Amino acid sequence: MQIRFADSRPTGDYALVLPIAGKDRKSLGSLGSAQQAVAAALDRQRFEGEASNVSEQFVEENGSVRRLVLVGVVSGTSPDEVAEKLGGTAVARLLTSGEKKAVIDVSALGFDADATARVALAVALRSWRYDRYRTKLKDTQKATLEEVVIVGGGAGAQQRYESRWAPVVEGVSLTRELVTEPANIIYPESFVQRVRASLEGSGVEIDVLDRAQMEKLGMGALLGVAQGSVREARLLVLKWNGGAKGEPTAFVGKGVTFDTGGISIKPAAGMEAMKWDMGGAGAVAGALKALASRKAKANIVGICGLVENMPGGNAQRPGDVVTTLSGQTVEVINTDAEGRLVLSDAVAYVQRTYKPSTIIDLATLTGAIIVSLGHEWAGLFSNNEELAAELLKAAAESGDKLWRMPLGEPFDRLLDSPIADMKNVGPREGGSITAAQFIQRFIESGVKWAHIDMAGKAWADKPSATYEKGATGFGVRLLDQFVADVLEK
Ligand code: BES
Ligand code: MN
Ligand code: ZN
Repeated sequence: MQIRFADSRPTGDYALVLPIAGKDRKSLGSLGSAQQAVAAALDRQRFEGEASNVSEQFVEENGSVRRLVLVGVVSGTSPDEVAEKLGGTAVARLLTSGEKKAVIDVSALGFDADATARVALAVALRSWRYDRYRTKLKDTQKATLEEVVIVGGGAGAQQRYESRWAPVVEGVSLTRELVTEPANIIYPESFVQRVRASLEGSGVEIDVLDRAQMEKLGMGALLGVAQGSVREARLLVLKWNGGAKGEPTAFVGKGVTFDTGGISIKPAAGMEAMKWDMGGAGAVAGALKALASRKAKANIVGICGLVENMPGGNAQRPGDVVTTLSGQTVEVINTDAEGRLVLSDAVAYVQRTYKPSTIIDLATLTGAIIVSLGHEWAGLFSNNEELAAELLKAAAESGDKLWRMPLGEPFDRLLDSPIADMKNVGPREGGSITAAQFIQRFIESGVKWAHIDMAGKAWADKPSATYEKGATGFGVRLLDQFVADVLEK
């Protein structure tokens, strides 16, 4: 999608998008003689101008016909939110409409540069599609929209978009691609290749640990998960050093490229969803892409723990005891609680190698978090009040919503094992909390840590203003905003 900014509407053929704030029809003033008929049509359609209401009409203009898309926006909500809903709603409506060009006129909204740039952000995010495997799309299903011009916004919008939001679009797009690809295409090795190709020339330094190297280090928990698969595990390390000297902040992602459950195998129905069990790792890769692309003034190390969880002849069994990189031992009661095993070695590795002051891990870790928070929020667990507050703020600003969940010693006790230092599952009750407690056992004292359980957020069955059904890219905007607010200050 080509996105441009302009001071006034161009001439020629295009669909015109106008915001309508509730009952206020002032943005129709620019329609000249068509204004009254359009307003009457809105009344007949009982158009209330509520957020994301759309009325589509056609008006005659100099002997030809122009498509008008009127999008409801609620004044009183923040300009950022209005901007993103407007851009996303408009492009969702027009993407496959047959129109090639759209003009979104925001003059009536008094937007500053950033709000105007966010219209473009939403346009770019909402128009993302992945049609690689759809060889039989009918012409009417294909995207036609090629160009969007945003008119009448604040000065400097173009510059703001390019420096702040286009990089985020690149990061989110990478994440969505990784999450969307099926598990026969994206497995640990090919995940690394895809990310490497995407980050080439970005300034991100890449290290990869293969199975032999991880074995030597003693990453028995991560490798135990991988051993039932013919696909070898990888640990992908992405380093962005854009800041002054000092300890890095670590982002750690669960990258289970497919989760069958292993010997504790999952039911068949819906198991295909487990191709996106690498959404946390996908978010880490996308965030690094965004940060490097906008040259963020921060030092970040991103770790993707990449494995496939399969029930092969060499798969680990319930009851097996593994020794983690930290030296602690784990009784694997349920091979389907594999994400925490992967993360335990990944967080141990990042602490011993990079001494980060802060670790944020992201994982599609538990079905229980979906029971708790549905598909609206990801769960946030943290050992540090300040870090939790910063993440909640970044969540509210970015739209990647978080809800704080508790940690506590009574939950930790539920992981005690009669044979090893801990077992990998607790009882059903509080399942997301015991999963978080498990990871916390691998966080060294003094390290600020947050865990984000995003099982309900990596994939959406319903579209929103900024994504179509499917991969959402959750986590990229959150981490990017956190870096901008906290590390670049
Ligand atoms: N990847 C799943 C969690 C998940 C479930 C993500 C549904 C998205 C949708 C994870 O590895 C898992 O299987 N968790 C188990 C843990 C249980 C065995 C303690 C779960 O949630 O059932
Ligand atoms: Mn599992
Ligand atoms: Zn999993």
